[in-house]
Amino acid sequence: KPAGLAKTPPMGWNSWNTFETNINEELVKKTADALVASGMKDAGYLYLVLDDGWMAKERDENGNLVPDPVKFPSGLPALIDYVHKKGLKFGLYNCAGTKTCAGYPGTRGYEYQDARFYAKLGIDFLKYDWCNTEGIQAKEAYTTMRNALAATKKPIIFSLCEWGDNQPWLWATDIGQMWRISGDIYPCFDCEYNHGTWSSWGVLRILEMRKDIRKYAGPDHFNDFDMLEVGNGMTAAEDRSHFALWCMMASPLIAGNDITKMNQQTRDLLTNRDLIAINQDELGLQGFKFHFENGIDYWAKPLANNQWAFAFLNRSESAAELNFDFSKWQITDPDFGHQFNAKQQVYEFKFLFENKTANTKRNLKTKIEAHDICVIRLREKK
Ligand code: DGJ
Repeated sequence: KPAGLAKTPPMGWNSWNTFETNINEELVKKTADALVASGMKDAGYLYLVLDDGWMAKERDENGNLVPDPVKFPSGLPALIDYVHKKGLKFGLYNCAGTKTCAGYPGTRGYEYQDARFYAKLGIDFLKYDWCNTEGIQAKEAYTTMRNALAATKKPIIFSLCEWGDNQPWLWATDIGQMWRISGDIYPCFDCEYNHGTWSSWGVLRILEMRKDIRKYAGPDHFNDFDMLEVGNGMTAAEDRSHFALWCMMASPLIAGNDITKMNQQTRDLLTNRDLIAINQDELGLQGFKFHFENGIDYWAKPLANNQWAFAFLNRSESAAELNFDFSKWQITDPDFGHQFNAKQQVYEFKFLFENKTANTKRNLKTKIEAHDICVIRLREKK
């Protein structure tokens, strides 16, 4: 795979969570406009990705993929040009199986032909799904598509969407820049939504679904906690926690709301510079949970230059008091060895949702509302 395409977690927007297959060129143009006008592009959201549903139901007589002519009457080249001229990047979706999950032509058996098609279009990102894959091996299938993309010599981010059953974190480091670790996200805080033969998952379910995989993630190879549901119906506190946790986990930040219609609160959260800086920190490390007490999860993420982010997540259904005595804590990153030691070293910190600073000589005392989160960023005091 080409090196350095995703030194930090990719950021962008994807059509699926809100629009599913109801996508078209007007939506893409308006979304591109809104990415710029809302400040999201400046905050780092560069990839505009069309998920399932962009194709016609059949390939053409030469076996080439055909963009749906009704949804995209002006054709994809003009549309991609429009997106690129805004300074954004453009992504498409396909699937390793015979058909996509929504029943459009899959790539199986057409890997090199489809890669050439994408290269000619000039796309920058390919999400590659895992439906209708009976009888094929995940590692092989994703390797084949990686090779096909590499043969085009184009810098295309390869986003694996395999849901974790085949443990891509064990084998995809050299295949893609990111891999899904779970089934689909659902816009609820802590639920399982049963679709019959499969389930999608609330924020906390995805957060807790895999253990001990943070050691497999880092720059250019991130665990993907799935696209964001910020702005899609959870409470303000839940949206805050969801976004902050995805930042703490160094997950790709792919917005999944209708950004042409989002309110100020959603926009402010998605463009929160301090949280994004935690996500985009150059170490590229996923956070880890180091404690649980009184309904509150304690998460830590090592940052460059001996800095740290801590997030205190109130999982419970009622407000909780946090009383954190830093002087009692020596924290060692279980996988990468970074050390936090407030017994020996005073850290200064700032609260990310409040305009407040403090240091670790005194306890951090604060009330955290139900499902809300308190995030701080610490640096050594000189
Ligand atoms: C399953 C994936 O996990 C989703 O993110 C989405 O791409 C759908 N397939 C599209 O059919």
